[in-house]
Amino acid sequence: MSQAPQSHDEGPIQTPQQLMLAIVLAFVVPVTIIALLVNYVNSAAKGGAGSSALAPEAVAQRIMPVAAVKVQAVTAAPGSRGGEDVYKAQCASCHGAGALGAPKYGDGGAWAARIGKGLDTLTDHAVKGFNAMPAQGGGDFVEVEIKRAVAYMANAGGAKFEEPPVAAAEGASEAK
Ligand code: HEC
Repeated sequence: MSQAPQSHDEGPIQTPQQLMLAIVLAFVVPVTIIALLVNYVNSAAKGGAGSSALAPEAVAQRIMPVAAVKVQAVTAAPGSRGGEDVYKAQCASCHGAGALGAPKYGDGGAWAARIGKGLDTLTDHAVKGFNAMPAQGGGDFVEVEIKRAVAYMANAGGAKFEEPPVAAAEGASEAK
């Protein structure tokens, strides 16, 4: 029966030190929990440290469609290019302005002497090169395409060559 006087002292806090500890913990523990909760909520939107996983470019990369359309200049199959196409693609750089002494497109005087050589010889010179005229004008064409370009250019300079038609030339042996 000697326990009665102790009854009002029961409880975890018995000393002033324990009281101090209880006060400190009562403050620190909730603040720590709140801080951790805030950190947890925010972390949902964060990538790893130093990671750019959520950068707009990285996201775009990940959700990129499997196939992408690439727009390219249409290049015709070898042998199917017409004289005008070849001229514009390869020959105009010199013959358009008469660079390096090239007979200028549409210049009857410059072409008159050359037309007399005939389409075949002119084509041969254009294919193999002729003085400052580089082989194929530096291009990579099928011979009949060069022939068409020569006819196209020479005709603009007053010749009456027949430009080998594109459809007939395909598959057929190159007319010379
Ligand atoms: C790098 C400049 C250059 C390019 C590109 C070029 N030519 Fe020429 N071409 C010349 C020059 C320079 C001459 C004059 C050569 C000479 O008479 O001494 C010439 C001459 C010619 C001649 C006359 C040859 C002769 O026997 O008189 C023909 C035909 C010709 N070029 C066709 C072409 C064709 C077809 C192309 C395009 C596929 C082409 N050239 C692209 C510079 C060029």
